[in-house]
Amino acid sequence: MILPNSIRHILETAKIEEVVQHFLPLKRSGANLTALCPFHHEKTPSFNVSPTRNIFKCFGCGKGGNAAKFLMEHEGYSFPEALRWLAKKYNIEIQETKPTTEQLAAQQEEESLFIVNDFVLKFFQNNLPGAGLNYLQSRGFTEATIQKFGLSYAPDSWDALKKAATQAGFKLQYLQKLGLTTPSGKDFFHHRAIFPIHNLSGKTIAFAGRILDNSNPSNSSNNSNQPKYLNSPESPIYHKSQTLYGIHMAKQAIRRQDECILVEGYTDLIALHQAGIENVVASAGTALTKEQLLLIRRFSTNLKILYDGDPAGIQATLRGLDLALEQNMNVKIVPLPHPDDPDSFLRKVGITAFTELLNTQAKDFISFKANLLLASAGNDPVKRAAAVHNIVDSIALVPDPIKRSFFIKDCAALVGLGEEVLTLETNKVLQALAQKQPVFIPKEPVHASVLSFTNGTYERHLTLLLLEHGAETFSPTENITVAGYILSNIEDVLGHFEDPLCQRIFRETKIKLASNQLFTPLYFINHDDPAMSTLATDLAAIAMKQDNNSFSPEWQNRDFQNIGKQGISQIITNTLLRLKLDIINRWCETNRKKLEEAQHSGDMALVLKLLKIQAKLNETRNELARQLQIASIS
Ligand code: GTP
Ligand code: MN
Repeated sequence: MILPNSIRHILETAKIEEVVQHFLPLKRSGANLTALCPFHHEKTPSFNVSPTRNIFKCFGCGKGGNAAKFLMEHEGYSFPEALRWLAKKYNIEIQETKPTTEQLAAQQEEESLFIVNDFVLKFFQNNLPGAGLNYLQSRGFTEATIQKFGLSYAPDSWDALKKAATQAGFKLQYLQKLGLTTPSGKDFFHHRAIFPIHNLSGKTIAFAGRILDNSNPSNSSNNSNQPKYLNSPESPIYHKSQTLYGIHMAKQAIRRQDECILVEGYTDLIALHQAGIENVVASAGTALTKEQLLLIRRFSTNLKILYDGDPAGIQATLRGLDLALEQNMNVKIVPLPHPDDPDSFLRKVGITAFTELLNTQAKDFISFKANLLLASAGNDPVKRAAAVHNIVDSIALVPDPIKRSFFIKDCAALVGLGEEVLTLETNKVLQALAQKQPVFIPKEPVHASVLSFTNGTYERHLTLLLLEHGAETFSPTENITVAGYILSNIEDVLGHFEDPLCQRIFRETKIKLASNQLFTPLYFINHDDPAMSTLATDLAAIAMKQDNNSFSPEWQNRDFQNIGKQGISQIITNTLLRLKLDIINRWCETNRKKLEEAQHSGDMALVLKLLKIQAKLNETRNELARQLQIASIS
């Protein structure tokens, strides 16, 4: 666990422009820097970086936040991973709760295993010339591709790797942990083409080795009775069910295209990459797991599966794919003509026809499954019924009810049954599922965008003014900061704020000022409550728009846009008065309603009391309006 103070220190040291610049070229534009947004497709840049506010914001797709948020969005890191990345870049020592001895040992072991793997990869690469290179070239892989994927070769020997590694000082124990040396002390891979397997951040975690048998590459067994592919066994750094081959190279493209293509084989993925299709990952022969789908979901919810036409293979895959429906992913399937796989088919038809097929032949998951199951059921009514039940089970997994009813419609047409029957059956399955599952409590909804100025407009204005100008002096004559001034003037109305998040910003500011801490908006941008940091980022984004001289219409209407002319203290006074006026108006309205009710029920004592309140409120309202007028004129 990283300590909260350490988190703050890292986030406040990290410079957003330096972090973003690491991945994207930025151009200066006024006070901000801009680029083409990496999170959605666009032709003119709407991605902005504000060095003064230390945030990024895309005015096209809305993504925004601090440096850690950028890394999480861009690299798919978890929050701790993002913090570690930043700490490394800025040479900050991370303060953590003290790890237990076991945790420490595990961490050290993990690091050692990665180092061993790096050495092993170099060893395989050094052995490439000769048989290995000839094989890979015969598969049509270019030198650049071989380099990019670390394709290499394990020599025809039972102990070459073991010798090299131990000579270089690596412990045999680690080689065995990684499964690179068998318990009997032999090299695990020999005379095989090597495909290194990486984790999301690109570290080598395992290897796959393919037999160098060119005669029948689509046949999974061969005359020497050796498996076509061998994989490193599970190890502390390699968990098959959480790994997707190629994800670290595909993640950017998956996000850019908002679609992930899934193939089965290593060579399929590499062939597609070489042809320029980069948003692709490979399941590498295992049934898809939930963890793998969640990995994909970090980058896109659209999944396109590209499998060969072998029915047994497809049926096995379909079972795993119910999981994708459960994750509310949109799954499409592109069937390839048997016995081709993506690699062989691409070589046969060329990239243009291949892309065409990808775009036109994608079938949605349910109709694909229905066709498949019904075809194998033939005319047997019992088998057909079983097929329909199977399909309905899948439909019931789709969380979105609208999508579900579309699937039912499609399915009904396909199987020749009424929609009502299928709906009834789906509901039965849903009920059964609901009884099995714990109640699902949705997370708190994301705070509504502050750009929609409806209620609480002036609360947000005031919050924005606090965040943007809080640390400045309020006026040359008074020795008080903007934050101090605002806080000493909203005591009486803070309890009546409509927006609880804005209210929290003022309350937390008050606590900070009371303990003599300096006001900084970064505190809220880096807040550990995501709703708070989203609000702070959204408000800062409004100010960024002003930097760019592209005022949002909400602001033009409210004559707050020209800080230069009016002076900041004037604007704050104005906003405070308007905010109070808002609240008084609300009270007047409530009181008026109560008064009506009281008159209706004939409770004269109450009527009198409410009338008095009304008079008092009117008085206050008039006074506020007068002050506001004076403030506006002067
Ligand atoms: P090539 O024949 O080299 O083109 O490979 P391929 O990817 O076309 O092979 P195939 O379609 O037979 O298998 C798809 C994927 O399943 C492979 O990329 C491997 O990840 C995995 N696989 C295939 N055969 C074996 C095997 O014998 N053992 C293991 N562990 N995995 C295999
Ligand atoms: Mn193949």
